[in-house]
Amino acid sequence: MKKALVGYFSKTGSTKEIAVIIGANLAKKGTEADVLELEKITNTDNYSAIILGAPINGMRHIPEFIKFVEENRNALDGKVAGLFTVAYIYHDGRKIWRGMMNKSIAKIQKLINPANSTVFAGRIDKKMPAFANLLFGIGSDLPLDLINHAEIDKWCEEIGKLIKSAN
Ligand SMILES: Cc1cc2nc3c(=O)[nH]c(=O)nc-3n(C[C@H](O)[C@H](O)[C@H](O)COP(=O)(O)O)c2cc1C
Repeated sequence: MKKALVGYFSKTGSTKEIAVIIGANLAKKGTEADVLELEKITNTDNYSAIILGAPINGMRHIPEFIKFVEENRNALDGKVAGLFTVAYIYHDGRKIWRGMMNKSIAKIQKLINPANSTVFAGRIDKKMPAFANLLFGIGSDLPLDLINHAEIDKWCEEIGKLIKSAN
């Protein structure tokens, strides 16, 4: 059976970390996966399934990811089993910010039609200033690291089933 591809962009390492967890998880359940930075991918033809991940910066996906999706939309359309977006304030912040991030997600979804799309909580390196907590609507006691392994495992179960049913 062909391998799956987990392709990601990451600025500070957490999306990469989640991509590695996803790759290991899929392998454990019988689907071998290459975990690669999207810049290093030249051809997606040899993969049985594609999973893509990128973080949110400034309420939208990082520009590198948007560019990658726009440039490869024809090759990717309908072939992406899962899209995962990584964001820090998506789940805990004000609704208005979630709405802005959802617009970015919808734009990507429209371009490549992933079978499944999710948002994972990410991690920041240091506490935000009080005014930013207020602006974003998050408590000053919110942990810096919100990466939830149980949620990632659960998503991998769904994606694993999707991949197996398509093969
Ligand atoms: C410059 C910058 C801008 C960010 N903007 C947002 C944002 O608009 N919304 C959000 O939920 N998280 C935001 N974050 C948090 C990141 O999405 C989060 O830290 C994520 O885990 C980063 O992924 P990475 O480590 O793969 O780069 C921002 C982080 C940075 C460094």
